[in-house]
Amino acid sequence: MMKRRPFLTSLAASAALLLGFTACSKSGSDAAAGNSGDSQLTVGFAQTGAESAWRTANTNSLRNEAEKRGIELKFADGQSKQENQIRAVRSFIAQGVDAIVIAPIVETGWDPVLREAKRANIPVVVMDRTVATSDESLYAAFVGSDFYEEGRMAADWLAENAGDRTNIVELQGEPGSAAANERRKAFADALAKHPNLKIIDSQTGNFRRAEGKTVMEAMLKTHGDAIQIVYAHNDDMALGAIQAIEEAGKTPGEDIMIVSIDAIKEAVQAVADGKMNCTVECNPLFGPKIYDTIEAILAGKPVEKKSYNKDELFDQTNAAAALPSRQY
Ligand code: AHR
Repeated sequence: MMKRRPFLTSLAASAALLLGFTACSKSGSDAAAGNSGDSQLTVGFAQTGAESAWRTANTNSLRNEAEKRGIELKFADGQSKQENQIRAVRSFIAQGVDAIVIAPIVETGWDPVLREAKRANIPVVVMDRTVATSDESLYAAFVGSDFYEEGRMAADWLAENAGDRTNIVELQGEPGSAAANERRKAFADALAKHPNLKIIDSQTGNFRRAEGKTVMEAMLKTHGDAIQIVYAHNDDMALGAIQAIEEAGKTPGEDIMIVSIDAIKEAVQAVADGKMNCTVECNPLFGPKIYDTIEAILAGKPVEKKSYNKDELFDQTNAAAALPSRQY
């Protein structure tokens, strides 16, 4: 672990580059180089769990990049429970790690443990999903995707391509997560401009393939042929829904249009095959950006408080061409 000096007070950086944490290492360049010895960087990572293919790619990205840089990564699988993640963060604090990465399962309830990390002079980088906090200075930076924008892109695509289809069922992600909250809100906001499109049922599949399938089976029983479109908050649930639709004797992509988010390789393949109609990217490969951010923070350099990936959309026009270069 690096030798730690107490936090300096907040840097008077420009508003866009406002930095809440300024932990300093013995030598910033040691940290940036990921040197071994007492300057080797140790990072604690409180992951949500392993609910989806996206999540596995995200975990691998942080693990592989840590290995490349000689960073010691302490990994904790939250098994989809916030209390497990909070326990993990407390344990990282007790171990005196140099920085902590949290992929928060839900948005609320983080302030007490973030305050403990700040008191211990350990910067926290929030990754992937945002936290709702009363004090933005409790975490050093956020690195993630714009979930609202993803939901908007999915709805706009549908508004242009749904034809005379009107009835949508929604498969929601983990309740209380920023990803589900924002994707749901953006989609509803966009649909308000297209009154022909309406959500006839909306239930959670917790971002999991098996649950997406079960929920879709139940929806098919309840609504039958009335279902014309599925909007899934992630690809795993969409792929589960596709199984349920096929088992019900219907043709996914034709009888029922499928629109989803993540753009995992399997889903982009399903789009190319015509079983899914569109998937909006949510890139999980945050490893390099996360450690660049941590190394900058520990070197006392200003970092963007919130930084978002730019995501693409894949449909029949570009899915097949994109397949060979998909990395997750
Ligand atoms: O927070 C990102 C979401 O979490 C992804 O869309 C989903 O697949 C994952 O489990």
